[in-house]
Amino acid sequence: MGERWCAAVLRVLVLQALAWALAGGQVRYSVAEEAKAGTVVGRLAQDLGLEAGEAEARRLRLVAPGRRASVEVSGASGALLVSSRLDREELCGKSAPCALRLEVLLERPLRVFHVQLEVTDINDNAPVFPAARKNLSIAELSVLGSRFPLEGASDADIGANAQLSYTLSPSEHFSLDLERSEEYRESLFLVLTKSLDRETIPVHRLVLTASDGGRPSLTGTMELVISVEDANDNAPQFNQTVYKVQLPENATEGTFVARVNATDPDLGSNGEVTFSVSNTFPEKGINIFLLNAKTGEIHLAGIVDYEEARLYEIQIEARDKGMPPLSGHCKVVLEVLDVNDNAPEVWVTSLSVPVAEDASVGTVVALLSVSDRDSGENGRVRCWVWPASPFGLEATFAGSYSLVLREALDRERVSEYEVEVRAEDGGAPALRASRGLRVPVSDVNDNAPAFAQAVYTRVLFFLCGISTRVG
Ligand SMILES: *[C@@H]1O[C@H](CO)[C@@H](O)[C@H](O)[C@H]1NC(C)=O
Ligand SMILES: *[C@@H]1O[C@H](CO)[C@@H](O)[C@H](O)[C@H]1NC(C)=O
Ligand SMILES: *[C@@H]1O[C@H](CO)[C@@H](O)[C@H](O)[C@H]1NC(C)=O
Repeated sequence: MGERWCAAVLRVLVLQALAWALAGGQVRYSVAEEAKAGTVVGRLAQDLGLEAGEAEARRLRLVAPGRRASVEVSGASGALLVSSRLDREELCGKSAPCALRLEVLLERPLRVFHVQLEVTDINDNAPVFPAARKNLSIAELSVLGSRFPLEGASDADIGANAQLSYTLSPSEHFSLDLERSEEYRESLFLVLTKSLDRETIPVHRLVLTASDGGRPSLTGTMELVISVEDANDNAPQFNQTVYKVQLPENATEGTFVARVNATDPDLGSNGEVTFSVSNTFPEKGINIFLLNAKTGEIHLAGIVDYEEARLYEIQIEARDKGMPPLSGHCKVVLEVLDVNDNAPEVWVTSLSVPVAEDASVGTVVALLSVSDRDSGENGRVRCWVWPASPFGLEATFAGSYSLVLREALDRERVSEYEVEVRAEDGGAPALRASRGLRVPVSDVNDNAPAFAQAVYTRVLFFLCGISTRVG
């Protein structure tokens, strides 16, 4: 009997519910998500056509309010109230509309009503990027207009509250492009708008902001860290185009001459510089100067001689190790300084001897050439004759002298002269040279015969001297 009663009640219930639903009597409410607890969703008792007090008397209530029903029926007023947090995104995710079906029960007699509760979206979710930061690596020589895909943000809300727009922090070099499509998800690109130069800005830090279409709008951000990959776009550059140095000609092998310096702001091997000599003038300098390919130091590997070359020009190339390499050039101009390393030289170019003893004053006895390979004071030569008589020196033209007779000769008195022509340069200390000349005097018949008396006398004296000593 109990069973039959139950079945009867159930049939009645179903029929009644069916009747009510067919009558279009379903109650619909709508409430915004996140409404405060206690917010009245609808006057349920009234809308179901109950008399005042009937809701309480007939225990109007929700059937088995599950975990997801965050509404309740107020016993006293019969109103449907928000009882706990309603989160549209948790209840329905991205699907819209978000409609909850509630069953409401009324006792004595038992009746069931269906209530549809639509939870409407509010902008309670900000756009979220997949990561707080994104690292990008972009080649330094990327062409303008190059595009780099970015992952956009997502927003859990729906409709306008999830409609995203993007902005980029101010940047000369980059802009954004959002490709919208009816069919596909939108695609976001970073676009290169100005050439990159790693040497000026190696890393660009930008902030990408996504804003949704809610009022007020919510935003989410992602930091973009863009590393510029080096390209070999800088040639080595010398800090001077010409290095002028002076070196005394007596500098010894191994002497430090100069140091050239080139810098290349590129990274790694693109900025690694080595030096080499491209050419030297005069050419023999190639063996005289030694360049260190790494340090750019030049040392003397031979000797320099002012008298041979007063100036050397060394053309140097600096080359980086990029692919392909770039190079820069400079010149080292080396001035060799004269040192008084050469003594004067005196040459007899012509000599007319013997000199007749009756030669007149002013007779040229010899022609001399005097020189000094040094220059300036070091090569300025002063010369004179020693002894000071009877000959003298007369300058004829630069470096040439005549040895001339200054006094009358007398062969019978001096039959031959040893003359020295002496020279001294103007260096400090001075260097000297001399050349000796033998000038014989030739006899001229200038004496009349004379008695030998004097001779005898001399012999006589001589003999006496001896006898005295013997005696
Ligand atoms: C980005 O690079 C930094 C170091 O430059 C590193 O600490 C970080 O983990 C990187 N992030 C990602 C997402 O690769
Ligand atoms: C070259 O010059 C730069 C700056 O002018 C300096 O920092 C560097 O040390 C120099 N290199 C050499 C090898 O002298
Ligand atoms: C260039 O570099 C060299 C070597 O380092 C240095 O001696 C010289 O003073 C530098 N010149 C300039 C103009 O900086």
